[in-house]
Amino acid sequence: MKGSVRNAAVAAAAAAAALVLGTAAANPEVPAPPAGASSQVLQGARLYQQHCALCHGAKGRDANVFPRPIWGPGHDIAKFGTARGLFEYVQLLMPFDDPAKIDDAAKTAIVNYMLVRNGNLKPDKPLPPGGDQTAIR
Ligand code: HEC
Repeated sequence: MKGSVRNAAVAAAAAAAALVLGTAAANPEVPAPPAGASSQVLQGARLYQQHCALCHGAKGRDANVFPRPIWGPGHDIAKFGTARGLFEYVQLLMPFDDPAKIDDAAKTAIVNYMLVRNGNLKPDKPLPPGGDQTAIR
């Protein structure tokens, strides 16, 4: 095998692995949180990219796997009621491939990021562990 062909094969395998792992390489375009975001929100953005964007898209919408956006126009997450309700759903069921893959602190940070993106939480205010009574609209 020529070196360049082998290099291409290695690059393709790495890209496939990145896709499976949901790493930054697979989802470069997760939007940065707004200026003044708490470290929890910044962490939530990174974790969303790693563990959720694979199926829900960098911007919370990827109709290939799940038809509805999970924040922003057209979302249906208001049915979870509050930040705590959304946390409890994510705690139980997400990431869909292995909900035990990340801990509750990570899930709290992701919920914080999602609700900042959805306009329900201010970016500079961390969410207490397991969420709170903030309404989802
Ligand atoms: C392997 C693909 C996959 C991954 C990774 C994944 N999800 Fe999901 N998600 C789904 C599927 C499929 C559903 C629909 C589940 C159902 O209806 O039972 C769903 C549903 C949801 C819903 C409900 C939306 C609605 O309108 O009902 C939320 C919220 C959600 N996911 C958040 C997350 C978060 C946060 C993460 C990362 C921690 C994540 N998901 C990771 C596939 C995935």
